[in-house]
Amino acid sequence: MKIDLIKSKINSICKFITYKENKELIKIYSADWRKRFSNICLGVAFPKSTSEVSKIVKFASKNDLKLIPQGGNTGLVGGTSPTKNKSEIIINLEKMDKLINIDENNKSIELQSGVIVEKAVLELEKKNFTFPLNMSSIGSSQVGGTIATNAGGMNVIKYGSIRNNILSLEVVLANGEVLNLGSNLIKDNTGYNLKDLFCGSEGTLGIITKARIKIYPKPIDHSSIFISMNSIKSLLIVFRYLNQNFLDKIERIEFISDLSFELCLKHNLLDKRFFEKKSNYYLLVKFIYFENSEINFEKIYTNLKGNFEEFLISQNEQQSIDFWKFRESLTEAQKIDGKLIGFDLSIPINQLENFLLQSQYKINELLPQIKFHIFGHLGDSNIHFNLIEPENIKKDFYSYEKKIKHIINNLIIKFEGSVSAEHGIGILKKDDFKKTKSLKEIKLMKNIKKLFDPKNILNPNKIF
Ligand code: LAC
Ligand code: ZN
Repeated sequence: MKIDLIKSKINSICKFITYKENKELIKIYSADWRKRFSNICLGVAFPKSTSEVSKIVKFASKNDLKLIPQGGNTGLVGGTSPTKNKSEIIINLEKMDKLINIDENNKSIELQSGVIVEKAVLELEKKNFTFPLNMSSIGSSQVGGTIATNAGGMNVIKYGSIRNNILSLEVVLANGEVLNLGSNLIKDNTGYNLKDLFCGSEGTLGIITKARIKIYPKPIDHSSIFISMNSIKSLLIVFRYLNQNFLDKIERIEFISDLSFELCLKHNLLDKRFFEKKSNYYLLVKFIYFENSEINFEKIYTNLKGNFEEFLISQNEQQSIDFWKFRESLTEAQKIDGKLIGFDLSIPINQLENFLLQSQYKINELLPQIKFHIFGHLGDSNIHFNLIEPENIKKDFYSYEKKIKHIINNLIIKFEGSVSAEHGIGILKKDDFKKTKSLKEIKLMKNIKKLFDPKNILNPNKIF
């Protein structure tokens, strides 16, 4: 179909900008956060309502045009990147940014999918509620995108991932029909749970236009501790103790390694190392309180003595904020530092040490001096295992990617882990998905894709 015709048709529905008209803008929407993919889309459409989304999809379906639903474009696996040059159309939901309703009795919030997550967080705080999802990218990520990718983040240990919190969804199907799934009910056990299929489908089954999400009471106070140690054994002892004794008060337990401090200092994302001396590993924990029952940190200190090097307790609100600001800048710090081969792994916690030892040993044999930047959500056994290119590397770092992935995928199979704990598959993890998931399961998923999108117009070439 001629581009001018596509342009005039979509423009009669909503704002639509083509590459021809504004190259710089279209490049921004086409580029992924880590700049791993270089294809450019044909144009970006900005619908303002569900009915506009539906009209675009109906037009695309009739004319076999390929659509990429896109939220804040903060993903790390190329899930909203074009897979062919100047042929796919991005539908960005940013103009659908209405917070529809906060239901304080049923404890839920209803929003259009283009609402920036932070807006929901802040609006709820004003009413003494908490949005379940929180992660470094909330300033730009959109609610619909977090649902389409089943985003995790730091508070999963407390509230679960977004999947655990969806009450209802409005979705535009591949033929343009609008489907309403779920209800404003906590208990609704009526047949297959179709809304769960759309969550984590990465825009391949439908376009999410509206959602109702569970909300929680806002804690009245919080404090954080930051503990350093030198062995994974000690780390796990501390982790188990905290989990066992304070699970109801823990909002986050994050694992950080020493390189995180070096990177943030080097790139001016941190002024000082909070700790007196360097250690191998660190645990950053946030406790939240719903009544005046603060934790007796002296008791924790005494009970854990011998298992840590230093034990810091946030002295005030600002120090707690500084700890977490540091944690939230780790992805940015590594991006500035150099080329990155990143893994977002789940490893059963009792295999973490074996995985870390074996993977680093094998990768070092292949290419010494890689910077291992390891951090993540220890509360969910989710490790961001990132490899940053060595200084003075001779070949292109990405030429090692296939071999490194081979090492990691084999260890994932051996330790029964997952190649994607929270970032999804997109383009970047397609091969790893195929290598580590059962073929029967993948076949079923492909059949589901065919059922929902027989013409393959929604986010083609992603996941599979
Ligand atoms: C984080 C992103 C990388 O945890 O998932 O910061
Ligand atoms: Zn993460």
